[in-house]
Amino acid sequence: MKKISQPISNAFCPQGLYLYGTYTADSKPNYGLFCWATYCHSNGFRFVACIGEDKLTRDRIRETGVFSASILTEALLPAADWCGTHAGYEHDKSSVIPSECGSVLHVPIPCESVWSFELKVEQILTPSEGSDIYICRIEQLTADARLSAPTLSFEEKLKLVSPVVTMDQRYLPVAPHSLGEWGSLANF
Ligand SMILES: Cc1cc2nc3c(=O)[nH]c(=O)nc-3n(C[C@H](O)[C@H](O)[C@H](O)COP(=O)(O)O)c2cc1C
Repeated sequence: MKKISQPISNAFCPQGLYLYGTYTADSKPNYGLFCWATYCHSNGFRFVACIGEDKLTRDRIRETGVFSASILTEALLPAADWCGTHAGYEHDKSSVIPSECGSVLHVPIPCESVWSFELKVEQILTPSEGSDIYICRIEQLTADARLSAPTLSFEEKLKLVSPVVTMDQRYLPVAPHSLGEWGSLANF
């Protein structure tokens, strides 16, 4: 294979997508769409989120120390795309995604979400002014009850979730079939 140097980009690096939910100061649900997110180990399993630049979601997380993160699914995609491209500073997003309150934390959760974390910020890193990295304890996971049905295979559950990932500024589906379990592929 011939390799060449390229301008820095993550074009072919798949990123998961989440709707982050916070309540505004006047108690309305607000959502933004986010992909700079992952997990780490820090005194246990933790959710890590990066919010770059000024935005309402960042202000509300700083103020309250809590937010929800819901996996982006194909069903939520149109509303999520809108929330990710319209600033909460300028738009009232409270009616775009029907919401309910989290069961453990005071955070809005989309009624149609099949997999939502309720997150409490444990640590804030500020790599540059305006940009925050949150390391969060997962206080609660609420999932569609169908995902715990013992009769369904993982692939059937994945099809039910239909998560959306992003690459190169576009949305892509996840193929609902497995390439094998960890440690089961090498035959050396
Ligand atoms: C696909 C996609 C992914 C995004 N990921 C991030 C992200 O990881 N971090 C971030 O700061 N903004 C991200 N944004 C931008 C926010 O969603 C956008 O600023 C939105 O207005 C935030 O909501 P708010 O203004 O109500 O806080 C992303 C936008 C899109 C469309």
